[in-house]
Amino acid sequence: MKITFSALRLPNRGALAVLVAADRKLLSSAKALDKATGGALARAMKANDFQGKKAERLDLLAPSGLDNSRLLLIGIGEPKKLKGRDLQAIGSAIVSHMNGVGETQAAVAVDSLGRNKAASAASAGHLAYGARLQSYRFDRYKTKKKPDRKKPLEKLSVLAEDAAEARRVFAPLDKVAAGVHFTRDLVSEPANVIFPKSLVQRAKTLQGLGVKVRALGVAEMKKLGMGALLGVGQGSSNESQLLILEWNGTAGGRSQARKPIAFVGKGVTFDTGGISIKPAAGMEDMKWDMGGAGVVIGLFQALAGRKAKVHAVGICGLVENMPGSAAQRPGDIVTSMSGQTIEVLNTDAEGRLVLADALWYVQEKYRPKAIVDLATLTGAIIVALGHEHAGLFSNNDELAAGLTEAGKTVGEPVWRLPLGEGYDKAIDSDAADMKNIGNRAGGSITAAQFLQRFIKDDTPWAHLDIAGVTWSNKAKPTVPKGGTGFGVRLLDRLVKDHYES
Ligand code: BES
Ligand code: MN
Ligand code: ZN
Repeated sequence: MKITFSALRLPNRGALAVLVAADRKLLSSAKALDKATGGALARAMKANDFQGKKAERLDLLAPSGLDNSRLLLIGIGEPKKLKGRDLQAIGSAIVSHMNGVGETQAAVAVDSLGRNKAASAASAGHLAYGARLQSYRFDRYKTKKKPDRKKPLEKLSVLAEDAAEARRVFAPLDKVAAGVHFTRDLVSEPANVIFPKSLVQRAKTLQGLGVKVRALGVAEMKKLGMGALLGVGQGSSNESQLLILEWNGTAGGRSQARKPIAFVGKGVTFDTGGISIKPAAGMEDMKWDMGGAGVVIGLFQALAGRKAKVHAVGICGLVENMPGSAAQRPGDIVTSMSGQTIEVLNTDAEGRLVLADALWYVQEKYRPKAIVDLATLTGAIIVALGHEHAGLFSNNDELAAGLTEAGKTVGEPVWRLPLGEGYDKAIDSDAADMKNIGNRAGGSITAAQFLQRFIKDDTPWAHLDIAGVTWSNKAKPTVPKGGTGFGVRLLDRLVKDHYES
């Protein structure tokens, strides 16, 4: 979908959306149209009990007195209470409406909301951002177009008082949306398309934006002693990879002087469970077990796209967890890069094994000032938090607060869960330094405790368990069904608020 900005002059043809505040209060464009139609807007609102609540919609077809094909009245609620997120939801509602009715071109008049000029332009920018986030479909494998399927909206023209300023607000948001869409693509692709090496190839498209992208193969990881990660991938004919992304947008350019912020992603391109194999029903979901890596890659697209003034590294452990004659067995003991040994009692608790070596690697090579890891790590986090919040675990209150705040702002909320010695005991092993599963109790917490054993004491670290939020079976404002890209906007915001110079 193409989004353009232009001056606030109402077009006299095509589909046009106009804003209506709570209690049927028409904003200036709507007011003008009501006059031109002899009060048709007021009558329609009354007839349909339209109140002007946030994202409420009312469609007027071929209104007499105008040549427009339709007028969409879109509610905005209380103008004073509107935040960026609300305007995004409104932009999103306009796009889903136009998609549903088959309009391929539309305009929306973003009138001044009675605040200053800059705030009005920001509103228009955020409305466009919501429209962009909404306009996503993963349909590249549909070869037959259904004849009754409506055409999607192809062009949205955003009309604003200060179009240039609105365009300027939108530019970096559009880059973040591109990162979100990239992540959605990666998690939606099936596992015969996305496997460790092909995922590295996809990530290499970021080189064009100035991101350094490289990968280590099995031989190099063996030299580094990454026995935990390698054990997971050894049953697959697809070679494991460690993907390394680096973006340095600080004034120092390539200088290493400034410690980076690090993002670490679980990239299990398919999780069968291995020898501890999963049941058949629903196993297809495990194509998105690389969701953490998908977010890290999409985040780097966002950061580089908007030229964020930050030094960031991204490390993704990419493996396929398969059964087979070469696969690791329950009871195997592996030695991680840190030197700590792990008894693998369940080959389906593989994400933590992959992350253990990726976390150690990033600390050894980069000494980051903070680490955030993302992983579709446990089914237990879905039991605890459902599909609304990601689980947050951290050894650092400030970092945890920053993530919580950023999550609220962008609408990707996280909920902190505890860590503690008592939980840590659950993964002590009789045969090795630790085992890769606890008992059933507190499954997401013991998984996080496992990760913490690979964090050096003084490194601020946070772990996001995104198993419940990476894929969605129901559409929400700005997030269509399927891969959500949850985490990209959150971490982009964290960087913007706390790590950019
Ligand atoms: N990738 C799964 C977790 C998962 C489950 C993600 C459902 C998304 C939806 C992970 O590798 C896994 O299998 N975890 C096990 C751990 C258990 C064996 C300790 C789980 O959650 O059952
Ligand atoms: Mn698993
Ligand atoms: Zn997994």
